[in-house]
Amino acid sequence: MSTFHVAADAYDRFMGRYSTLLAPQMADLAGVAAGQRVVDVGCGPGALIAELVARVGEESVNAADPSPPFVQAARQRFPGVVVEEAPAEALPFADDAFDAALAQLVVHFMADPVAGLREMARVTRPGGVVAACVWDLAGGRAPLSLFWSVARELDPNVSDESGRPGGREGHLGELFTAAGLRDVTETELTIERRHDTFDEWWEPYTAGVGPAGSYCAGLGPERLVELREQSRKRFPSEPFTLTAVAWAARGVV
Ligand SMILES: C[S@@+](CC[C@H](N)C(=O)[O-])C[C@H]1O[C@@H](n2cnc3c(N)ncnc32)[C@H](O)[C@@H]1O
Repeated sequence: MSTFHVAADAYDRFMGRYSTLLAPQMADLAGVAAGQRVVDVGCGPGALIAELVARVGEESVNAADPSPPFVQAARQRFPGVVVEEAPAEALPFADDAFDAALAQLVVHFMADPVAGLREMARVTRPGGVVAACVWDLAGGRAPLSLFWSVARELDPNVSDESGRPGGREGHLGELFTAAGLRDVTETELTIERRHDTFDEWWEPYTAGVGPAGSYCAGLGPERLVELREQSRKRFPSEPFTLTAVAWAARGVV
């Protein structure tokens, strides 16, 4: 969690550039439509909140995240949305308060994913929907996969994100079922993001966001340059359109 104690702007440049593109697909998966009350769990600075607000209005969106700078940014960006500083495992919302609860790129950071999903189910009314997605980290189809594969080449013992919960085929669905959700289905969500230059792709990795940013921050200057230059060699072309895939699951309460 502490790897997300960073400025919202750094997050936007690092992961927000991809997560914004997932948001409409997540809202579609959960069937979010006007008239509903919804909650965004692990909202970060608000990539998914923006999509939810466009569909149901600020007064019908609540959100939660344990990172203080992200909560502050989300509150500033969406003054009509109630944004709580809290983890998924202990949501400060009443039972049955929402028609849908969504967690975009969050389950793999939860300390206890099943407990977090159970909480999402608790705050959702019977018949409502819980939806979540996690990049295909094990399948090498995450936006960060190129970065981690170069890091692994240079250091075979690197702790990449490939073993994280929900990041392999079928696992998110298993977690949903373990949390007591019904009619669980799993699907793939695909995004494409153009990178004009290698530098534009690389620079946000040096801002300390998430496990990849922390890894860069922990390297000495020489090893960081080595990682950057090896990545440059592996970067396909300028410009480059990065395609990434997330596993997404949907279940009924
Ligand atoms: C990759 S970001 C995703 C943010 C946002 N949902 C998006 O799509 O851009 C992961 C987020 O999960 C949050 N997080 C970490 N541990 C969490 C937990 N136990 N419960 C809820 N959110 C958590 C982090 O603070 C961070 O905002």
